[in-house]
Amino acid sequence: MTVAIGINGLGRIGRSLTRIVAAAPNPGVSIVAVNDIASTEKLAYGLRRDSIRGSFPGTVTARGDHLVVNDHAIRAYRQERPERIPWADQGVEVVIEATGRFRAGGTARSHISHGGARKVVISASADNPDAFLVMGANHTSYDREAHDVVSPASCGVNALTVMAKVLLDRFGLGSVNTSVMLAAQGWGRVQDSLIGASRDDPRLGRATGESIIPHNHVVGDLVRVALPEIGEMRYSYYCVPTPIGSLAELSGQTARPVSVEEVNRAMAEAAAGPLRGILAYDPDPTVSIDVKNNPASCLFDPSGTQTTADGGVKVRGWFDNEWGFSNRLLDLARLIGERLPVPSGHASWSAV
Ligand SMILES: NC(=O)c1ccc[n+]([C@@H]2O[C@H](COP(=O)([O-])OP(=O)(O)OC[C@H]3O[C@@H](n4cnc5c(N)ncnc54)[C@H](OP(=O)(O)O)[C@@H]3O)[C@@H](O)[C@H]2O)c1
Repeated sequence: MTVAIGINGLGRIGRSLTRIVAAAPNPGVSIVAVNDIASTEKLAYGLRRDSIRGSFPGTVTARGDHLVVNDHAIRAYRQERPERIPWADQGVEVVIEATGRFRAGGTARSHISHGGARKVVISASADNPDAFLVMGANHTSYDREAHDVVSPASCGVNALTVMAKVLLDRFGLGSVNTSVMLAAQGWGRVQDSLIGASRDDPRLGRATGESIIPHNHVVGDLVRVALPEIGEMRYSYYCVPTPIGSLAELSGQTARPVSVEEVNRAMAEAAAGPLRGILAYDPDPTVSIDVKNNPASCLFDPSGTQTTADGGVKVRGWFDNEWGFSNRLLDLARLIGERLPVPSGHASWSAV
């Protein structure tokens, strides 16, 4: 079955979604409409040229109020308010809300109540969605009747959660400490600017290329929403001046002492088995740029594993904060767009 999707906001995430779908031989979704405040011509240009991903591997043109991507016509709306986008006119079933402006479950719900879509995926750690669903961890808790507006949490939460899931399932996991180093985001500032995107912390308005900047993103709560069996969590989140490619580290206490080899074997087995496509495993010495275009939520790096005789464990994973997360958004769109029962395993939700 192919799920008809609409994308609100054709920025970094919206364009990644479009590129992933365009490149996949059988994506299981069809983008039938997009909405942004930019003109169709600018949206086409933004897809054709990309400083991180390179030129579009195909053709993208603007034709009236349509974007034409490799001969596939996508209706392009230009509405600033989500309730004004007539998704139903194009048969949109699932809207991926990717503006970053409408992260509240209530506002995003207007894609259903006013736009006529059936379901919404908010591409961020939303406020009050019907459910947070992290693919590979708790996506099987999706309830078709009760969950109309869902969120996959954030890219960092996804990377941490899949590593935590393996440790929890294989060895038991008590209290946890996590760190995320997140690559540059569109809202970052080239020069210091203490208004606008600085939100409630003035450090977020500081020049991104100059500093490692602490961020107050509350990852711990969301990892525990997906994996409530985990013990208490502490977390740190930093914005770092890399263009793409982010790092997640997790340390904790396992129920029994484990060796480095056992941990790495567990991760490799999960990556080849139940978490295929969501967790990847690569023993080659890796730096952040190497993860560019990797569709997994987390590329596990076995060289980062450390253990202690009393059950302490520390693990490291890399993630392409745009590409991996966009693949998970599409996984979620397929999951909630389907009208069939939710499968109980994880493997069928692997990346395209
Ligand atoms: N980038 C990442 O690595 C990443 C990873 C995980 C999650 N996310 C989340 O995904 C969301 C989008 O992030 P992003 O990086 O894709 O942001 P982005 O590049 O700023 O994209 C947002 C797009 O929405 C457009 N837009 C702004 N207001 C709009 C409105 N009222 N109606 C329609 N379109 C509107 C923006 O236009 P203008 O550019 O003209 O404002 C831009 O094209 C955010 O919530 C972010 O936290 C991002």
